[in-house]
Amino acid sequence: MCGIVGIIGSEFKVGDLIDGLKKLEYRGYDSAGVATVDGNGLYVSKSVGRIDALRGVVETEKAVHNGIAHTRWATHGVPSDRNAHPHTDCSGKIAVVHNGIIENYQELKKGLLERGHKFHSETDTEVISHLIEENFKGNLYQAVLETLKELRGAFAIVVIHSDIPDVMIGARKGSPLVFGCNEEKCMLASDVTPIIKYTRDVIFLEDGDVVYIQGNKARITDFSGNIVIRNRMHISWDENAAEKGGFKHFMLKEINEVPEAIESALVGRYDEKGFPVLHELDEFNLERVKRILLVACGTSYHAGLVFKYFAEKYLDIDVLIDVASEFRYRPIRITDDTLTVAISQSGETADTLESIRAIKKAGGKVIAITNVVGSTITRESDVTLFMNAGPEIGVAASKTYINQLIVLYTLALYMIKKLGKWNNIHDEISRQILNSSKIIKQIIQDPKIEQMADLYKNYNHFMYVGRGINTATAMEGALKLKEISYINAVAYAAGELKHGPIALLDPTFPVFAVVPKDSLYEKMRSNIEESKARNAKIITIATEGDKEIERISNNVIYIPQVSEDLYPLVIAPVIQLFAYYIANKRGYDPDKPRNLAKSVTVE
Ligand code: M6R
Repeated sequence: MCGIVGIIGSEFKVGDLIDGLKKLEYRGYDSAGVATVDGNGLYVSKSVGRIDALRGVVETEKAVHNGIAHTRWATHGVPSDRNAHPHTDCSGKIAVVHNGIIENYQELKKGLLERGHKFHSETDTEVISHLIEENFKGNLYQAVLETLKELRGAFAIVVIHSDIPDVMIGARKGSPLVFGCNEEKCMLASDVTPIIKYTRDVIFLEDGDVVYIQGNKARITDFSGNIVIRNRMHISWDENAAEKGGFKHFMLKEINEVPEAIESALVGRYDEKGFPVLHELDEFNLERVKRILLVACGTSYHAGLVFKYFAEKYLDIDVLIDVASEFRYRPIRITDDTLTVAISQSGETADTLESIRAIKKAGGKVIAITNVVGSTITRESDVTLFMNAGPEIGVAASKTYINQLIVLYTLALYMIKKLGKWNNIHDEISRQILNSSKIIKQIIQDPKIEQMADLYKNYNHFMYVGRGINTATAMEGALKLKEISYINAVAYAAGELKHGPIALLDPTFPVFAVVPKDSLYEKMRSNIEESKARNAKIITIATEGDKEIERISNNVIYIPQVSEDLYPLVIAPVIQLFAYYIANKRGYDPDKPRNLAKSVTVE
């Protein structure tokens, strides 16, 4: 996830581009850059660090007519001046800003290098400017269309060329791009926030759209050059709401970004047959792994627990997991056949980092799973699988948890394939993972989740239960609720209720049961019956079509049927939204829960 701004038309200042970027800071903030063109050439300035650092390296008062700007959230290449956008071609005339991931950039880069192109960055983006250079025969629009045919992955791009200073071209496939014009100027941006200063009538470009702007006139076509008609939308949000995409809080916005985040996590990770591809792990001899060790904290620990259940079921090897704050103080045994994985969305969690150091000291190699390129954990681990969720502003993990699950399922499937254990069950799981963004898009629109939060907002205790792989779901549900709504929420593997926690249950202590139709369904039902017999109110998350569950539930939220291994993935947004709505209805700010920080850098 990155932020793009482009302005073209009557005179404006370079500082206006940076003001636009500031509105997109939530999309990325590790480096930023700006490029402008006039009849004399292309001018590019970049700076690592937050957007304000860019003001120090550009002439903010300079008057221009055409410029693009970018704030980056690194995916390929560490945050640095070199890797900051815009990226240029060999002639130094073309500049490109890009949000998304070019899946086939390595093969494209190889060809471009063989044909003599010189690269200046480690990014996937730079291939685009060089390809446009190759395809440019005097018509920038045609050159962009030719280039788009060569790109695989998810992207939104904006392109300018110093030989044609009154033209700007944008295109989208999988990453957002919004377009708006007033009498004097046209704008392109990753969301409406930089645009509403100029106009409130915008077009949300659709996948496969290209917008060609000359001065303040524009046309939209598909990738083949056929004109397409898109409706304008009037934006009535105030600026503050617009920053949150019209949502009341970042957390709600970020849960709504899950489908886009999942697509980013999947780019380049499955081949056309649906087999997982993790080139990052080429140097690991996975065939000889007999034991997997996971360390993580909080929500990341719960993602690791899902992996444990999934991987143990199909890999026939032991998966051990511990919270990092405990792991690091215990004797650490690393054998040649141990694979160690550290999970941390921030990449800065002190306990996880110290565990990594301890593992390395004991002779282990660490695979990190994080969301932040350049974070300490990525630097100290041997290899990193990036989650590509984009920045998450809300303190409580939401889309990052879901992307952790995507990466962990993919890692497990990759090992299943490597270890020769792949069968048609895995074909189906892989197919459903590739389709999961669509399933989740539908789930997060279910109005019943908010209605249920309304019914239960005044309870001060909740018991979350699940079994098997959904024990982790119950634990994550309880953590989410307690951390943003300050309600006493406890979680147990449902079979444990009878060993003590059931004593807590009464009409004031609702049970939130995760009970999809899976192989433990009957057992879960018995546990729910036991709870009901103690007069506890029962909320269930169940599989569509399960009418039987209604008999023992006070309220049910249905989710679509998926492979039983994937319920943690599709239920995650439900538990997040339930916690979100309760916190909101109790008058708390879910984005900034008391006593908590986004990166826990203390032990
Ligand atoms: O950045 P990390 O994933 O390493 O963070 C671990 C925990 O601190 C984090 O998951 C925490 O539990 C959050 N408050 C969860 O919402």
